[in-house]
Amino acid sequence: MDGLRERLAEAGQSHLLQFWNELSPEEQAEMSQDLEGMNFKEINGFFKSAMETSSQTKQEKVDSRMEPVPREVLGSVTRDRDSLKDWEKEGLRCIAQNKVAVLLLAGGQGTRLGVSYPKGMYDVGLPSHKTLFQIQAERILKLQQLAEQQNNAKCCIPWYIMTSGRTMESTKEYFSKHNYFGLSQGDVVFFQQGMLPAMDYNGKIILESKGKLSMAPDGNGGLYRALGTQKIIEDMERRGISCIHVYCVDNILVKVADPAFVGFCALKGADCGAKVVEKTNPTEAVGVVCKVDGRYQVVEYSEITLATAQRRSTDGRLMFNAGNVANHFFSLAFLRDIVNIHEPQLQHHVAQKKIPYVDTQGQLIKPDKPNGIKMEKFVFDIFQFAKTFVVYEVLREDEFSPLKNADSQDGKDNPTTARHSLMSLHHRWVLNAGGHFIDENGTRVPAIPSLKDGTDLPIKCEISPLVSYGGEGLEGLVKGREFRPTLVIDKQGLHELVKNGL
Ligand code: UTP
Repeated sequence: MDGLRERLAEAGQSHLLQFWNELSPEEQAEMSQDLEGMNFKEINGFFKSAMETSSQTKQEKVDSRMEPVPREVLGSVTRDRDSLKDWEKEGLRCIAQNKVAVLLLAGGQGTRLGVSYPKGMYDVGLPSHKTLFQIQAERILKLQQLAEQQNNAKCCIPWYIMTSGRTMESTKEYFSKHNYFGLSQGDVVFFQQGMLPAMDYNGKIILESKGKLSMAPDGNGGLYRALGTQKIIEDMERRGISCIHVYCVDNILVKVADPAFVGFCALKGADCGAKVVEKTNPTEAVGVVCKVDGRYQVVEYSEITLATAQRRSTDGRLMFNAGNVANHFFSLAFLRDIVNIHEPQLQHHVAQKKIPYVDTQGQLIKPDKPNGIKMEKFVFDIFQFAKTFVVYEVLREDEFSPLKNADSQDGKDNPTTARHSLMSLHHRWVLNAGGHFIDENGTRVPAIPSLKDGTDLPIKCEISPLVSYGGEGLEGLVKGREFRPTLVIDKQGLHELVKNGL
């Protein structure tokens, strides 16, 4: 204990023991175990450099140093239609050779959504009531099947799932309870990212109760440290992986291991690739992928002036329009270098938060304005180290609809918008495959839904990923047929649910 007291004193964190004598022996044991495992010198160093970088970036805008993504590194599902089939074929070939892994970032706290369990376990209210985890698992299963069909070889896409100290146990339990949704248990690898304490503006670690520090995961860029400490790079090497698709748990439309994206990156010889959606509104608060001082990075809306955000190219599009959707391709060699060489150089970003704390009297206070910071690294912080960087542009309505917030009137990125995005994509799949929808009077529903009372309600339609990964293979089921919503297509066949449960 004396050694610990000394370390805390040296680091200016002695206040953490101010309630020590009031703790029960169990609480004392738990607290000293937590504290023993922490490197206070390192944490103080993170705080200092994160605060310095944050005050610098607040002052300077990067406008004059920015360049847009050049056309030659860009692949686009709308502008390069002719190449799509080749990219997809190449991606499926890589998958069939067991070279492709997917890596899910699921260590976030989901504070805005406000549920106590991991976000991947959320049910947005689809007819099937599948959760985000199940949808993603089934997309992996289907893709394995498509790659096997194309290449006549059995294959597997290992799924690495990053969780945090807070979500690990419940995530694992959930997968085990559901039998890994049909995936093989040995090919679903869980690993844990690091945690860092929340600190006040003077660099003092915050206590969330008398015997507990306020801890939070170290951001989705905590991935790179975790890949090293948890020996994930070695696991990938053992399996012969060379391409990794990294994505976030909250995007209900995510094309896990998207073969066209993987194939495009592989054919370009890329070590790092970013999927983007077109930013069309200059004031939308989305980070854009661009070059700064000749290196790729994501520039946040707050780091540029409105004038730059509004600049347009000759084709009328916004000049800085590559909206980042946290969906990336990495070669294993690149990730290995990041882990072994570059990770320690990555700076933490500062997120100002309202952090509940105990005051000197031991009272729990819930502040109504930010009172401290959490330190986070971001998954895209490593773009700067890429030697061959590529960008792949996709349609937002096909591929990006994140679940961030709880439902509210006129809300954005919530369970309702996520559910609607998926159903409207599946509606379009049915139309593209030659099917039609009719209303309760038997009249055909127009392909473009009308605005009823200002609410743009989608046709209720859900297609299991086990039936179709990206809209393929539906003609035989729907061509020339008329359906009354709710339409559900799953492995058992077509179901028109008479009772509308939604
Ligand atoms: P967000 O930044 O949207 O955070 O994460 P969040 O935890 O989902 O939600 P809030 O901000 O608390 O409301 C984007 C993605 O990065 C992952 C999340 O799980 C999500 O997939 N993430 C975030 C991590 O894996 N680790 C982290 O430390 C933070």
